[in-house]
Amino acid sequence: MTIVPVALGTRSYDIQIADGLLDRAMDVLAPFVARGRMVVVTDESVAKRQLPRLKASTDSAGITLHPIVLPAGEATKSWSQLEMLTDQLLQLGIERGDHVVALGGGVIGDLTGFAAAIVKRGCGFVQVPTTLLAQVDSSVGGKTAINSRAGKNLIGAFHQPSFVLIDPSVLDTLPARELRAGYAETVKYGLIDDADFFAWCEAHGAELLDGDRAAQTEAIEHSVAAKARIVGEDETERSGRRALLNLGHTFGHALEAETGFSDALLHGEAVAAGIALAFGYSAHKGLCSADDAERVSAHFKAAGLPHGLTSAGVRAEGAKLVFHMLHDKKMEGGTLPFLLARGIGETFLARDVDLDDVAAFLDSAD
Ligand code: NAD
Ligand code: GLY
Repeated sequence: MTIVPVALGTRSYDIQIADGLLDRAMDVLAPFVARGRMVVVTDESVAKRQLPRLKASTDSAGITLHPIVLPAGEATKSWSQLEMLTDQLLQLGIERGDHVVALGGGVIGDLTGFAAAIVKRGCGFVQVPTTLLAQVDSSVGGKTAINSRAGKNLIGAFHQPSFVLIDPSVLDTLPARELRAGYAETVKYGLIDDADFFAWCEAHGAELLDGDRAAQTEAIEHSVAAKARIVGEDETERSGRRALLNLGHTFGHALEAETGFSDALLHGEAVAAGIALAFGYSAHKGLCSADDAERVSAHFKAAGLPHGLTSAGVRAEGAKLVFHMLHDKKMEGGTLPFLLARGIGETFLARDVDLDDVAAFLDSAD
Protein backbone atom coordinates (compact mmCIF):
# COMPACT_ATOMS: atom_id res chain seq x y z
CA MET A 1 0.00 0.00 0.00
CA THR A 2 1.37 3.41 -0.97
CA ILE A 3 -0.06 6.54 0.61
CA VAL A 4 0.45 9.91 -1.05
CA PRO A 5 -0.73 12.88 1.01
CA VAL A 6 -2.20 15.95 -0.63
CA ALA A 7 -1.27 18.81 1.72
CA LEU A 8 -3.95 21.50 1.58
CA GLY A 9 -4.42 22.58 5.19
CA THR A 10 -7.95 21.80 6.33
CA ARG A 11 -8.70 20.29 2.90
CA SER A 12 -5.80 17.79 3.05
CA TYR A 13 -6.44 14.16 2.11
CA ASP A 14 -4.69 10.92 1.27
CA ILE A 15 -4.41 8.99 -1.96
CA GLN A 16 -4.05 5.26 -1.25
CA ILE A 17 -2.75 3.01 -4.00
CA ALA A 18 -2.70 -0.78 -3.85
CA ASP A 19 -3.37 -3.64 -6.20
CA GLY A 20 -6.71 -5.26 -5.33
CA LEU A 21 -7.69 -2.43 -2.95
CA LEU A 22 -11.19 -2.24 -4.47
CA ASP A 23 -11.93 -5.77 -3.21
CA ARG A 24 -11.18 -4.65 0.35
CA ALA A 25 -12.42 -1.09 -0.11
CA MET A 26 -14.18 -1.04 3.26
CA ASP A 27 -10.78 -1.32 4.98
CA VAL A 28 -10.14 2.26 3.87
CA LEU A 29 -13.60 3.67 3.09
CA ALA A 30 -15.25 2.90 6.45
CA PRO A 31 -14.70 6.48 7.73
CA PHE A 32 -16.76 7.77 4.78
CA VAL A 33 -19.85 5.66 5.48
CA ALA A 34 -22.80 7.22 7.32
CA ARG A 35 -25.97 5.58 8.58
CA GLY A 36 -24.92 2.17 7.29
CA ARG A 37 -25.02 3.01 3.58
CA MET A 38 -22.73 4.15 0.80
CA VAL A 39 -24.01 6.13 -2.21
CA VAL A 40 -21.93 5.30 -5.29
CA VAL A 41 -22.14 7.20 -8.57
CA THR A 42 -20.87 5.28 -11.57
CA ASP A 43 -21.49 4.74 -15.29
CA GLU A 44 -23.03 1.79 -17.10
CA SER A 45 -19.71 0.27 -18.24
CA VAL A 46 -18.03 0.57 -14.86
CA ALA A 47 -21.20 -0.69 -13.13
CA LYS A 48 -20.85 -3.94 -15.09
CA ARG A 49 -17.11 -4.38 -14.68
CA GLN A 50 -16.00 -2.89 -11.36
CA LEU A 51 -19.02 -2.08 -9.19
CA PRO A 52 -19.50 -5.76 -8.16
CA ARG A 53 -16.06 -5.70 -6.55
CA LEU A 54 -16.97 -2.67 -4.41
CA LYS A 55 -20.36 -4.19 -3.58
CA ALA A 56 -18.78 -7.42 -2.39
CA SER A 57 -16.71 -5.38 0.05
CA THR A 58 -19.68 -3.30 1.33
CA ASP A 59 -21.85 -6.45 1.58
CA SER A 60 -19.32 -8.26 3.71
CA ALA A 61 -19.09 -5.21 5.98
CA GLY A 62 -22.90 -5.08 6.33
CA ILE A 63 -23.08 -1.73 4.50
CA THR A 64 -25.87 -1.06 1.98
CA LEU A 65 -24.49 0.15 -1.33
CA HIS A 66 -26.85 2.49 -3.16
CA PRO A 67 -25.72 2.79 -6.81
CA ILE A 68 -26.60 5.69 -9.11
CA VAL A 69 -25.75 4.50 -12.61
CA LEU A 70 -25.39 7.11 -15.37
CA PRO A 71 -24.76 6.69 -19.11
CA ALA A 72 -21.08 6.28 -20.06
CA GLY A 73 -19.38 9.02 -22.06
CA GLU A 74 -18.52 12.71 -22.09
CA ALA A 75 -22.16 13.72 -22.74
CA THR A 76 -22.90 12.77 -19.13
CA LYS A 77 -21.02 15.88 -17.94
CA SER A 78 -24.16 17.90 -18.70
CA TRP A 79 -26.72 20.12 -16.97
CA SER A 80 -29.40 17.46 -17.44
CA GLN A 81 -27.35 14.67 -15.80
CA LEU A 82 -26.26 17.06 -13.05
CA GLU A 83 -29.90 17.86 -12.37
CA MET A 84 -30.81 14.18 -12.26
CA LEU A 85 -27.88 13.34 -10.03
CA THR A 86 -28.48 16.16 -7.54
CA ASP A 87 -32.22 15.29 -7.43
CA GLN A 88 -31.36 11.68 -6.61
CA LEU A 89 -28.85 12.69 -3.95
CA LEU A 90 -31.46 14.94 -2.32
CA GLN A 91 -34.11 12.22 -2.51
CA LEU A 92 -31.67 9.90 -0.77
CA GLY A 93 -31.42 12.44 2.03
CA ILE A 94 -27.72 13.22 1.60
CA GLU A 95 -26.47 15.36 4.47
CA ARG A 96 -23.61 17.86 4.41
CA GLY A 97 -21.39 15.56 6.45
CA ASP A 98 -22.00 12.61 4.11
CA HIS A 99 -19.68 11.36 1.38
CA VAL A 100 -20.67 10.33 -2.13
CA VAL A 101 -18.35 7.87 -3.87
CA ALA A 102 -17.40 8.50 -7.52
CA LEU A 103 -16.50 5.15 -9.11
CA GLY A 104 -15.42 5.75 -12.70
CA GLY A 105 -13.28 7.77 -15.06
CA GLY A 106 -12.87 11.53 -15.31
CA VAL A 107 -16.46 12.00 -16.44
CA ILE A 108 -17.96 10.43 -13.33
CA GLY A 109 -15.35 12.03 -11.07
CA ASP A 110 -15.85 15.55 -12.48
CA LEU A 111 -19.66 15.33 -12.42
CA THR A 112 -19.94 13.73 -8.98
CA GLY A 113 -17.43 16.17 -7.53
CA PHE A 114 -19.43 19.11 -8.88
CA ALA A 115 -22.70 17.66 -7.57
CA ALA A 116 -21.02 17.21 -4.18
CA ALA A 117 -19.80 20.82 -4.31
CA ILE A 118 -23.32 22.22 -4.69
CA VAL A 119 -25.72 19.81 -2.96
CA LYS A 120 -26.70 21.44 0.33
CA ARG A 121 -23.87 23.94 -0.34
CA GLY A 122 -21.36 21.14 -0.29
CA CYS A 123 -21.11 17.56 0.92
CA GLY A 124 -18.08 15.27 0.91
CA PHE A 125 -16.96 12.95 -1.85
CA VAL A 126 -14.45 10.20 -2.42
CA GLN A 127 -12.76 9.40 -5.72
CA VAL A 128 -12.33 5.80 -6.85
CA PRO A 129 -10.86 6.35 -10.34
CA THR A 130 -11.14 3.50 -12.84
CA THR A 131 -9.33 4.88 -15.91
CA LEU A 132 -5.61 5.56 -16.11
CA LEU A 133 -6.41 9.20 -16.93
CA ALA A 134 -8.46 9.54 -13.75
CA GLN A 135 -5.89 7.66 -11.66
CA VAL A 136 -2.95 9.82 -12.72
CA ASP A 137 -4.72 13.15 -13.04
CA SER A 138 -8.43 13.97 -12.72
CA SER A 139 -9.18 12.25 -9.38
CA VAL A 140 -6.62 14.42 -7.58
CA GLY A 141 -6.79 18.17 -7.12
CA GLY A 142 -10.47 19.00 -6.83
CA LYS A 143 -11.24 20.40 -10.27
CA THR A 144 -14.89 19.49 -10.83
CA ALA A 145 -17.05 20.50 -13.78
CA ILE A 146 -19.68 19.88 -16.39
CA ASN A 147 -19.68 21.02 -20.01
CA SER A 148 -21.96 23.73 -21.38
CA ARG A 149 -22.98 24.79 -24.88
CA ALA A 150 -20.18 27.38 -24.72
CA GLY A 151 -17.50 24.75 -24.15
CA LYS A 152 -15.97 21.99 -22.03
CA ASN A 153 -15.56 22.28 -18.26
CA LEU A 154 -16.85 25.86 -18.24
CA ILE A 155 -19.26 25.32 -15.32
CA GLY A 156 -17.58 23.98 -12.23
CA ALA A 157 -15.97 24.48 -8.86
CA PHE A 158 -12.85 23.61 -6.94
CA HIS A 159 -14.02 20.99 -4.45
CA GLN A 160 -11.42 18.63 -3.03
CA PRO A 161 -12.27 14.97 -2.43
CA SER A 162 -11.84 13.63 1.10
CA PHE A 163 -9.99 10.53 -0.08
CA VAL A 164 -8.76 8.89 -3.29
CA LEU A 165 -8.68 5.08 -3.58
CA ILE A 166 -6.57 3.84 -6.50
CA ASP A 167 -6.56 0.16 -7.46
CA PRO A 168 -4.42 -0.38 -10.58
CA SER A 169 -6.09 -3.76 -11.20
CA VAL A 170 -9.24 -2.00 -12.46
CA LEU A 171 -7.21 -1.15 -15.58
CA ASP A 172 -7.51 -4.82 -16.64
CA THR A 173 -11.00 -4.14 -17.99
CA LEU A 174 -10.22 -0.73 -19.50
CA PRO A 175 -10.22 -0.72 -23.33
CA ALA A 176 -6.67 -0.42 -24.75
CA ARG A 177 -7.49 2.86 -26.47
CA GLU A 178 -8.60 4.43 -23.16
CA LEU A 179 -5.42 3.14 -21.49
CA ARG A 180 -3.29 4.81 -24.17
CA ALA A 181 -5.25 8.07 -23.81
CA GLY A 182 -4.53 8.08 -20.07
CA TYR A 183 -0.89 7.33 -20.78
CA ALA A 184 -0.56 10.71 -22.52
CA GLU A 185 -1.46 12.46 -19.25
CA THR A 186 1.13 10.27 -17.48
CA VAL A 187 3.96 11.19 -19.86
CA LYS A 188 2.98 14.83 -19.32
CA TYR A 189 4.52 14.82 -15.81
CA GLY A 190 7.92 13.91 -17.25
CA LEU A 191 7.71 16.63 -19.86
CA ILE A 192 6.66 19.32 -17.37
CA ASP A 193 9.57 19.16 -14.96
CA ASP A 194 10.95 15.64 -14.64
CA ALA A 195 13.20 14.53 -17.52
CA ASP A 196 14.13 11.34 -15.62
CA PHE A 197 10.46 10.30 -15.55
CA PHE A 198 10.18 10.90 -19.29
CA ALA A 199 13.19 8.62 -19.76
CA TRP A 200 11.43 6.06 -17.52
CA CYS A 201 8.38 6.32 -19.80
CA GLU A 202 10.55 5.72 -22.85
CA ALA A 203 12.00 2.63 -21.17
CA HIS A 204 8.80 1.22 -19.61
CA GLY A 205 5.82 2.77 -21.45
CA ALA A 206 5.38 -0.27 -23.70
CA GLU A 207 5.22 -2.60 -20.65
CA LEU A 208 2.67 -0.32 -18.98
CA LEU A 209 0.48 -0.31 -22.10
CA ASP A 210 0.87 -4.08 -22.33
CA GLY A 211 -0.77 -4.42 -18.91
CA ASP A 212 2.34 -4.87 -16.76
CA ARG A 213 1.01 -4.16 -13.27
CA ALA A 214 4.34 -3.16 -11.74
CA ALA A 215 4.95 -0.58 -14.48
CA GLN A 216 1.38 0.73 -14.19
CA THR A 217 1.65 1.06 -10.41
CA GLU A 218 5.02 2.81 -10.59
CA ALA A 219 3.69 5.30 -13.15
CA ILE A 220 0.53 5.98 -11.12
CA GLU A 221 2.48 6.49 -7.88
CA HIS A 222 4.95 8.80 -9.58
CA SER A 223 2.21 10.79 -11.32
CA VAL A 224 -0.02 11.32 -8.29
CA ALA A 225 2.98 12.35 -6.20
CA ALA A 226 3.78 14.98 -8.85
CA LYS A 227 0.16 16.10 -9.05
CA ALA A 228 -0.17 16.27 -5.25
CA ARG A 229 2.97 18.42 -5.07
CA ILE A 230 1.78 20.82 -7.76
CA VAL A 231 -1.76 21.09 -6.35
CA GLY A 232 -0.29 21.65 -2.87
CA GLU A 233 1.68 24.59 -4.28
CA ASP A 234 -1.15 26.17 -6.29
CA GLU A 235 -4.55 24.70 -5.43
CA THR A 236 -6.67 27.03 -7.56
CA GLU A 237 -4.25 27.73 -10.43
CA ARG A 238 -3.40 31.28 -9.36
CA SER A 239 0.40 31.27 -9.32
CA GLY A 240 0.90 29.62 -12.69
CA ARG A 241 2.36 26.45 -11.16
CA ARG A 242 -0.79 24.33 -11.60
CA ALA A 243 -1.25 25.73 -15.11
CA LEU A 244 1.79 23.61 -16.11
CA LEU A 245 -0.55 20.61 -15.90
CA ASN A 246 -2.28 22.02 -18.98
CA LEU A 247 0.74 21.23 -21.17
CA GLY A 248 -0.59 20.32 -24.62
CA HIS A 249 -4.14 21.27 -23.66
CA THR A 250 -4.40 24.52 -25.68
CA PHE A 251 -3.27 22.88 -28.93
CA GLY A 252 -5.21 19.76 -27.89
CA HIS A 253 -8.37 21.76 -27.21
CA ALA A 254 -8.30 23.09 -30.78
CA LEU A 255 -8.05 19.52 -32.10
CA GLU A 256 -10.91 18.35 -29.85
CA ALA A 257 -13.06 21.28 -30.95
CA GLU A 258 -12.28 20.56 -34.61
CA THR A 259 -13.28 16.91 -34.16
CA GLY A 260 -16.46 17.90 -32.32
CA PHE A 261 -15.37 16.66 -28.84
CA SER A 262 -16.29 13.22 -30.09
CA ASP A 263 -14.94 9.68 -29.91
CA ALA A 264 -13.02 10.53 -33.09
CA LEU A 265 -10.36 11.97 -30.78
CA LEU A 266 -10.36 11.20 -27.05
CA HIS A 267 -9.21 13.91 -24.62
CA GLY A 268 -5.94 12.09 -23.84
CA GLU A 269 -5.28 11.54 -27.54
CA ALA A 270 -5.77 15.26 -28.18
CA VAL A 271 -3.38 15.99 -25.30
CA ALA A 272 -0.70 13.73 -26.84
CA ALA A 273 -0.97 15.48 -30.22
CA GLY A 274 -1.19 18.84 -28.44
CA ILE A 275 1.99 18.18 -26.45
CA ALA A 276 3.82 17.14 -29.62
CA LEU A 277 2.64 20.38 -31.29
CA ALA A 278 3.66 22.48 -28.26
CA PHE A 279 7.15 20.98 -28.46
CA GLY A 280 7.14 21.40 -32.26
CA TYR A 281 6.21 25.06 -31.88
CA SER A 282 8.86 25.52 -29.16
CA ALA A 283 11.49 24.08 -31.53
CA HIS A 284 10.17 26.29 -34.36
CA LYS A 285 10.71 29.33 -32.09
CA GLY A 286 14.23 28.14 -31.20
CA LEU A 287 13.23 27.66 -27.56
CA CYS A 288 14.03 23.95 -27.46
CA SER A 289 16.04 21.66 -29.69
CA ALA A 290 14.50 19.92 -32.69
CA ASP A 291 15.90 16.68 -31.21
CA ASP A 292 13.82 17.10 -28.04
CA ALA A 293 10.67 17.83 -30.07
CA GLU A 294 11.36 14.76 -32.22
CA ARG A 295 11.95 12.61 -29.11
CA VAL A 296 8.53 13.60 -27.71
CA SER A 297 6.75 12.98 -30.98
CA ALA A 298 8.53 9.63 -31.47
CA HIS A 299 7.50 8.46 -28.01
CA PHE A 300 3.81 9.21 -28.57
CA LYS A 301 4.02 7.54 -31.98
CA ALA A 302 5.61 4.44 -30.41
CA ALA A 303 2.79 4.41 -27.83
CA GLY A 304 0.21 4.34 -30.62
CA LEU A 305 -0.94 7.88 -29.83
CA PRO A 306 -1.50 10.83 -32.18
CA HIS A 307 1.63 12.97 -32.39
CA GLY A 308 0.58 15.78 -34.71
CA LEU A 309 -2.25 17.09 -36.86
CA THR A 310 -2.37 14.29 -39.44
CA SER A 311 -2.21 11.46 -36.91
CA ALA A 312 -4.96 13.25 -34.94
CA GLY A 313 -7.07 13.22 -38.08
CA VAL A 314 -7.21 17.04 -38.30
CA ARG A 315 -6.78 18.93 -41.58
CA ALA A 316 -8.03 22.41 -40.64
CA GLU A 317 -6.30 25.69 -41.41
CA GLY A 318 -4.10 27.13 -38.67
CA ALA A 319 -6.34 30.21 -38.31
CA LYS A 320 -9.35 28.01 -37.60
CA LEU A 321 -7.47 26.05 -34.94
CA VAL A 322 -6.36 29.31 -33.30
CA PHE A 323 -10.01 30.43 -33.37
CA HIS A 324 -10.89 27.29 -31.36
CA MET A 325 -8.08 28.05 -28.90
CA LEU A 326 -9.51 31.53 -28.30
CA HIS A 327 -12.73 29.96 -27.06
CA ASP A 328 -10.94 27.88 -24.44
CA LYS A 329 -11.38 28.87 -20.80
CA LYS A 330 -7.67 29.56 -20.34
CA MET A 331 -7.82 33.13 -21.70
CA GLU A 332 -6.29 35.59 -19.23
CA GLY A 333 -6.79 39.36 -19.56
CA GLY A 334 -7.71 38.89 -23.21
CA THR A 335 -4.50 36.97 -24.03
CA LEU A 336 -3.90 33.29 -24.42
CA PRO A 337 -1.08 31.87 -22.30
CA PHE A 338 0.78 28.97 -23.93
CA LEU A 339 2.78 26.23 -22.29
CA LEU A 340 6.02 25.96 -24.21
CA ALA A 341 9.27 24.11 -23.49
CA ARG A 342 12.96 24.89 -23.31
CA GLY A 343 13.58 21.15 -23.36
CA ILE A 344 12.25 17.88 -21.95
CA GLY A 345 11.26 18.55 -18.34
CA GLU A 346 11.47 22.32 -18.85
CA THR A 347 7.94 23.53 -19.53
CA PHE A 348 7.11 27.18 -18.90
CA LEU A 349 4.15 29.52 -19.29
CA ALA A 350 4.56 32.03 -22.15
CA ARG A 351 2.19 35.01 -22.19
CA ASP A 352 3.52 36.78 -25.28
CA VAL A 353 2.80 34.29 -28.03
CA ASP A 354 1.78 35.79 -31.39
CA LEU A 355 -1.35 33.96 -32.51
CA ASP A 356 -0.72 34.68 -36.21
CA ASP A 357 2.64 32.98 -35.79
CA VAL A 358 0.96 29.96 -34.16
CA ALA A 359 -1.52 29.80 -37.07
CA ALA A 360 1.33 29.93 -39.61
CA PHE A 361 3.17 27.19 -37.70
CA LEU A 362 0.06 25.00 -37.73
CA ASP A 363 -0.33 25.55 -41.49
CA SER A 364 3.14 24.08 -41.97
CA ALA A 365 2.91 21.38 -39.25
CA ASP A 366 2.25 17.72 -39.99
P1 NAD B 1 -14.43 8.55 -19.08
O1 NAD B 1 -14.75 8.81 -17.67
O2 NAD B 1 -15.45 8.85 -20.11
O3 NAD B 1 -14.00 7.01 -19.23
C1 NAD B 1 -13.67 6.52 -20.50
C2 NAD B 1 -14.48 5.27 -20.85
O4 NAD B 1 -13.96 4.17 -20.12
C3 NAD B 1 -15.96 5.34 -20.48
O5 NAD B 1 -16.69 4.74 -21.50
C4 NAD B 1 -16.06 4.51 -19.21
O6 NAD B 1 -17.32 3.90 -19.08
C5 NAD B 1 -15.00 3.48 -19.44
N1 NAD B 1 -14.38 2.92 -18.24
C6 NAD B 1 -13.93 3.59 -17.16
N2 NAD B 1 -13.29 2.76 -16.34
C7 NAD B 1 -13.36 1.54 -16.88
C8 NAD B 1 -12.84 0.27 -16.50
N3 NAD B 1 -12.08 0.11 -15.43
N4 NAD B 1 -13.13 -0.79 -17.30
C9 NAD B 1 -13.86 -0.62 -18.43
N5 NAD B 1 -14.32 0.56 -18.87
C10 NAD B 1 -14.05 1.63 -18.09
O7 NAD B 1 -13.10 9.31 -19.55
P2 NAD B 1 -11.71 9.66 -18.84
O8 NAD B 1 -10.73 9.64 -19.94
O9 NAD B 1 -11.46 8.87 -17.62
O10 NAD B 1 -11.95 11.16 -18.37
C11 NAD B 1 -12.14 12.20 -19.30
C12 NAD B 1 -12.74 13.37 -18.58
O11 NAD B 1 -11.86 13.79 -17.55
C13 NAD B 1 -12.98 14.59 -19.46
O12 NAD B 1 -14.28 15.06 -19.25
C14 NAD B 1 -11.95 15.60 -18.96
O13 NAD B 1 -12.41 16.93 -19.10
C15 NAD B 1 -11.82 15.20 -17.53
N6 NAD B 1 -10.56 15.59 -16.90
C16 NAD B 1 -10.63 16.22 -15.70
C17 NAD B 1 -9.48 16.58 -15.05
C18 NAD B 1 -9.55 17.21 -13.69
O14 NAD B 1 -8.52 17.66 -13.17
N7 NAD B 1 -10.71 17.25 -13.07
C19 NAD B 1 -8.22 16.29 -15.61
C20 NAD B 1 -8.18 15.65 -16.84
C21 NAD B 1 -9.36 15.29 -17.48
N1 GLY C 1 -5.62 18.43 -15.08
C1 GLY C 1 -5.28 19.78 -14.84
C2 GLY C 1 -5.38 20.17 -13.42
O1 GLY C 1 -5.77 19.39 -12.58
O2 GLY C 1 -5.06 21.27 -13.09
